[in-house]
Amino acid sequence: MAITGPSCDEDGSVRISRRGFLRASAAFSLSLATVGAGALLRECGQLTDDAPPFPVEGVPAGRASSLIDYASLDPRNPVNFASPLNLPRREGGLFGILDASSTPIDLVARRHEVELVPGRRIDAFVYQVESNGKTYLNPVLRANKGSLLSVRLVNSIGEETIVHWHGLHVDWRNDGHPIYAIRDDQSYSYSFTLQNPGAAYWYHPHPHPLTGRQTYLGLAGFVLVEDEETLDLGRQLDLELGVTDIPLAIQDKRFDDRGNLTYLSGPQEQFSGFLGDVVVVNMAINPALDVSTRLYRFRILNDSNARTYRLAFARGSEGMPFYLIGTDGGLLARPQQVREVFLSPAERVDVLLDMSALDEGDTVFLKSLAFDPMHGEMADMGEMQPEDEAGGMDDAQQDQTMGGMGQSRLREGEEFYLLRLAVRTRVAYDKAIPETLAGFVSIDTRSAGVRPFTLSSSTMQWLINGQRFEIDRTLFKVERNSTEVWEVTNDIVSMPHPMHLHGFQFQVLGRRNSPRQTQVLAIDEEMRLPTDLGRKDTVLVWPGETVRIAVDFSAAFPGDQTYLFHCHNLEHEDMGMMVNYQLI
Ligand code: C2O
Ligand code: CU
Ligand code: CU
Repeated sequence: MAITGPSCDEDGSVRISRRGFLRASAAFSLSLATVGAGALLRECGQLTDDAPPFPVEGVPAGRASSLIDYASLDPRNPVNFASPLNLPRREGGLFGILDASSTPIDLVARRHEVELVPGRRIDAFVYQVESNGKTYLNPVLRANKGSLLSVRLVNSIGEETIVHWHGLHVDWRNDGHPIYAIRDDQSYSYSFTLQNPGAAYWYHPHPHPLTGRQTYLGLAGFVLVEDEETLDLGRQLDLELGVTDIPLAIQDKRFDDRGNLTYLSGPQEQFSGFLGDVVVVNMAINPALDVSTRLYRFRILNDSNARTYRLAFARGSEGMPFYLIGTDGGLLARPQQVREVFLSPAERVDVLLDMSALDEGDTVFLKSLAFDPMHGEMADMGEMQPEDEAGGMDDAQQDQTMGGMGQSRLREGEEFYLLRLAVRTRVAYDKAIPETLAGFVSIDTRSAGVRPFTLSSSTMQWLINGQRFEIDRTLFKVERNSTEVWEVTNDIVSMPHPMHLHGFQFQVLGRRNSPRQTQVLAIDEEMRLPTDLGRKDTVLVWPGETVRIAVDFSAAFPGDQTYLFHCHNLEHEDMGMMVNYQLI
C-alpha cells in the first residue's frame, strides 16, 4: 500500500503538507498492520534496515504471536521491578566512570547490540571509549571544574552525527551545533575548559533533524563536573559515586512484536513527541537496587525524547519527603525539602533521599505520579482528524495502531514506577545535610532588556516567534556580556515545551498563568517552583504559561558565536522548533 501524503526532504526529514497530513494520518492507521511501523520513516532515512532481521523460528509475525510479553515489562506493575540497576563503575562497562580530565578521549559513536528485554539482542547505538585496556559504553565523563576536556568524536553509525555538550558553557565550535555534523567515518575534535560549576551535565547527538532518533537509539551519557562545593558535600555526607551517589538516566522505549526498538509511527506522533511504554533507567527495564539504611544522592537526568516525569519517592502508598539540592547547572544555595518534582526532557535534578529510618526489608519506589499532560493540541486538532477524507477510524482500527506499532500504551501523565529500592542492610549513619550548599549569585537584571518569545503551532509545525528552524538563519543577535530577560509565552492551545538554551545557564525569575498542578507547588510570589531556584539550561513552559528567565551572556570566547534555543521535546526540535541566535 502506498502512502501518498508525506514526502521526504533531501535532508531526510518527513515533509508533510496540511492536506498531506490529513491523508497520511488515515493511511498510516489503516496500513500499519501490513506495512509495518516506520516504513515511511525508513524511506526517508530516519530508520535504517541494516539491523539484521530478528531470527523468528517458526513464529509468524503478528500481534497474537508477539515475542514480547508487555505485561512483564509494564512499569505500572511494581512486581515487574527486578532487573539489576546498572551502576557507574571504575572498571568500565556501561556507564563506566572515566576520568576525563587527564587524557584525550576517543569517543566512538557506533552500532551496538543491547539486550534490554532478556534474551532479545537488538540493534542500538552507543558511545564507546577504550582507555587503559578497559571498554566504556556511554561513559560517565568525570572531571573537575577548570580542567581541559579533549574529546575526538569518531562517527561509525553510518549516518551523520555530532555531539553536543548539554549545559556546558563552551564556544560554538565545541558546542555541537548541527552545522558541524560529520559524516560516517569522519571525526570531530573538541577541546575546551570546563568552566561550569559542579553538576551533572550530559552529552548527546545533535545533527538536524536526527537528534531524536539517535538519542532514542542509545547515544547519551553524563558529564559529571565536580568543584570545591560538590566535593565538599560528597565528603560531608560520605558519598561514593556509583554506590551512594547514583546517576540515573531515565528514558522510555517501545518495542515491536519481535523486540526491536521502534521509533516514530508517523507524523501525528512526531507532532506530539515520541512516547515509549517501557521505562528504562540506566539502560535497564524496571530496575531494582539494594540499599542500606543511610542517605543516598541521586542525580536524575530525563533523557527521554518527549516524556515528562512527576518524580516522587514512595513507601507503599505514602510519599517520602526528599531534598532537592541541585538543578541543571549546579547546587542550590540551600537544600529544599520537597515531595515531588516535575522533570521534563533534558532537565536534571540532584536529590538526597534519607533512608536511615527505614528497616531491612522495606521497599521504596521512585515513581512518576499522575498528572494532566495538557496535550491540548490533540483535542483542538479535531479538524485534523481524517474522518471526512478517509471515512474515519473506528475504535478497532485505532486499537490496531496501539502498542509497539502505533502509539504508546503508557500515556503521558499516567502513574507508574521507575526504580525499586530494596533496603537490605542496616548501617549506622549520622551525617546531616548541610544548611548551605553553595554560594549562589542571583543575576542582576536591573539594566536588562526584555526579549519576548512565543511558542505556537500551525499546520503540524511547532514555532518559536512564528519561525521554523533553518540551519543557516540567525533569528536575533545578543550582545556579549549583556544581561537579558527572556519572556517565554506558550500558547494556551499547545502542549508543554521544555525550552533549552545553548551556551549559557539561566535563572528563572517567575511564572505567570501556570496550570493548577504547578501553582500548588510554587514556593514564592513569583510562582517559582523549587526547581526554579537553581541554575537551569532547560525549563518547562506549560500551555498558557509565561516563564521569565534571566541570562547573563558573559563569554570570553573570541569572535561571534552561534548558539541554539530550542524545545527539547526531541521530535519538536527535529521538526524545527529551534532557532539560532548569535552572540556578538
Ligand atoms: Cu540537549 Cu540542543 O540540546
Ligand atoms: Cu544543549
Ligand atoms: Cu515542544
